[in-house]
Amino acid sequence: MRASCVLLAALAALAAYYVYIPLPGSVSDPWKLMLLDATFRGAQQVSNLIHYLGLSHHLLALNFIIVSFGKKTAWSSAQVKVTDTEFDGVEVRVFEGPRKPEEPLQRSVVYVHGGGWALASAKIRYYDELCTVMAEELNAVIVSIEYRLVPKVYFPEQIHDVVRATKHFLQPEILQKYMVDPGRICISGDSAGGNLAAALAQQFNQDANLKNKLKLQALIYPVLQALDFNTPSYQQNVNTPILPRYVMVKYWVDYFKGSYDFVQAMIVNNHTSLDVEEATALRARLNWTSLLPALITKSYKPVVQATGNPRIVQEIPQLLDARAAPLIADQEVLRDLPKTYILTCEHDVLRDDGIMYAKRLESAAMLLVTAVSSQRAPWKEAEPVHCLEE
Ligand SMILES: *[C@@H]1O[C@H](CO)[C@@H](O)[C@H](O)[C@H]1NC(C)=O
Ligand SMILES: *[C@@H]1O[C@H](CO)[C@@H](O)[C@H](O)[C@H]1NC(C)=O
Repeated sequence: MRASCVLLAALAALAAYYVYIPLPGSVSDPWKLMLLDATFRGAQQVSNLIHYLGLSHHLLALNFIIVSFGKKTAWSSAQVKVTDTEFDGVEVRVFEGPRKPEEPLQRSVVYVHGGGWALASAKIRYYDELCTVMAEELNAVIVSIEYRLVPKVYFPEQIHDVVRATKHFLQPEILQKYMVDPGRICISGDSAGGNLAAALAQQFNQDANLKNKLKLQALIYPVLQALDFNTPSYQQNVNTPILPRYVMVKYWVDYFKGSYDFVQAMIVNNHTSLDVEEATALRARLNWTSLLPALITKSYKPVVQATGNPRIVQEIPQLLDARAAPLIADQEVLRDLPKTYILTCEHDVLRDDGIMYAKRLESAAMLLVTAVSSQRAPWKEAEPVHCLEE
């Protein structure tokens, strides 16, 4: 009896030790977050064990756990009609919200789920419910894309899937089939899905046939760059659940089919040190000492290594590809993108990616307006206008 009491107490202590993590005071529902984090960590450890035993790739195992926990069949309610179909060979789940009688054509959101380019699904409860709510509350048609994931495919295949499905949807006859207004279509996504959504918006903007097809991009805590893993938000949230910095860096490495041997070096920005010539021109595009307000930078110091490891970008050149890191795109690419909404969270390594992107978009738009107004009236001092605040 006594022995089992001791054992029980020891187990409880062990469980508490496993679950408990110190969190900032401003996190709401800290216990909920701790339990979620412990569950996710547990699933990751089981997956790593499965990988180690040679039974399956750890990301396949982890996604198997995630998807089996919460897969939902396409179930239509009285309000929302849900269908699984394919758009140009890419699986999609379509949610058709209630129609207002006065609006024969509905608006539409093309949605790209998150999960580090490797996890989750349009069909898990979480995203299914999110899209159902969007369809219902916006009276809209939501297209949630089931793009292929790491390790089945790697960069840039995820982007190709998302682009293929969206292009297919934008064809006049398909829009007509779903009775969607071609002038009111939004691309949206969260986390790695926000990354893919931003990449798609840039690609469409450069394609004369597709330009102006999107009315809006809505990016929810998007991942936007892999050059600097020491922005104030990366420094502040090094160990914040459920996305500590080393986990985010590993998602990047996995997306490019790179080697984990580089993770520690990338964490200290050795991949973009001053002796890495390929990164020189790009480094200035995410110079956060000028892009972020003082409220955000606080007393954080930039981490710029004089010497690092030039082999990293030689072996993983995708790190410097703007399709992977939309934040480092040329200024011209950022001009007249669709209207943009960006949401970021305070306790998130990704916060500053979103803020820097907003700032770069704002500057690009201001430059454009300045150019136009000086063309019209070259004698007058051009006044910059904040396009994004309309
Ligand atoms: C970063 O690069 C420097 C110079 O090559 C090296 O001394 C250091 O060990 C590297 N740091 C990591 C974490 O790899
Ligand atoms: C970053 O911006 C700061 C402040 O504007 C400037 O002093 C610094 O030289 C810039 N660094 C780079 C690499 O562009």
